[in-house]
Amino acid sequence: MMGENSTRMTAAAMPAAARMVVGSAQHKELLCALLLDTFDPYRPAVIPWPELAPEARARLAGLPFWDVALETEENAGTRMQALADATSDPLIRQALALNAFEERRHKEVLGHMVRFYGIAVSGDIRAAPVRDPHWAFLRTGYGECFDSFFAFGLFALARQSGFFPPELVEVFEPVVQEEARHNLFFVNWVAYTQANLAWSRRPAFAAERLAALAAQIANRARTAKAKDGDNFTVTGGSALGVDLDARRFLGLCLAENERRLAPYDARLLRPRLMPGAARLAMRLLGGARQ
Ligand SMILES: [Fe+2]
Ligand SMILES: [Fe+2]
Repeated sequence: MMGENSTRMTAAAMPAAARMVVGSAQHKELLCALLLDTFDPYRPAVIPWPELAPEARARLAGLPFWDVALETEENAGTRMQALADATSDPLIRQALALNAFEERRHKEVLGHMVRFYGIAVSGDIRAAPVRDPHWAFLRTGYGECFDSFFAFGLFALARQSGFFPPELVEVFEPVVQEEARHNLFFVNWVAYTQANLAWSRRPAFAAERLAALAAQIANRARTAKAKDGDNFTVTGGSALGVDLDARRFLGLCLAENERRLAPYDARLLRPRLMPGAARLAMRLLGGARQ
C-alpha cells in the first residue's frame, strides 16, 4: 500500500519537468483528467441486487442513514451542477458536470436499492435552488471530505465483518471509490482556484474556505448530537455489528483513505485535513490510555 508520505516522496523524487506547479495549466489538465479519464460507466438501473435473507434485509433497512444519504447526494448533485453552469473554463466545467452526474447517479443507486428492498424513506427530496454556486460547492466539498473519510472506514468494516453479503457490498464499491476521486478533485480545484486569484482576493477566498469548513463541522456536530448524544461513528459501527475502538477505527479510515487515493497521479495534491486530524486524535487517544 502506498502511504501518504511515500506519495509525497514519489512526487519529490520526480524529475523537475514532471513536477506540477499549483495553479498552472498542467495542474488544471491533471485535476480535470482525474475525473474525466477515470469515469466508470456503470448503470444503476441494471444493478443485479442480491436477494437477502429476512434478517439481512432488516439489518439493511435499520441502518440509520438512508434519508440523510439520499438528501446529501441530491444536494451534492444540484450544487456541483450549479458551479459547472457558472464556470466559464470549458475543461473545468466538463469535470464539474461529470462530478454532478456522478452524485445524481449515487442518488439513483440508493433509490433503486431502497425500492428493491422495500426500505422506508421519507419520499423524494428536492434540493433548494443554489444562490451562490461557489459557496455551495465549497460547503459540499468539505462535507464530502469529512463524510467520506469515515465512510471509507465503515465500508471496510462492512466488508470485513460479513454483516452483509459480499455481492451487496460490491455494488457500493464504485460509489465509495467515486467519493475518493471527488475529494481529490475538490482539494486540487481549491488550490488551483486560489493560485489563480489576484493576491488582493486571496484573503477573502481563504476566509470563505474557512467559513465553509466551519459550517460543515458545526453541521456534523449537530447531526452527531441528534443521533446519539455525541458519537455517530459508534452508532454506525454498532449498526454494522462491530465493536469499535476509536483509535483502531481512525487507523482503518486512514489506511483506507491512502489505499483509495494511491492509484491517482502522484503530482496532484492530497487531502491533508482529515488525515491530519485523525493522526492527531490517534495520538491523543493513545496518550490518554497510558
Ligand atoms: Fe456522492
Ligand atoms: Fe461526491
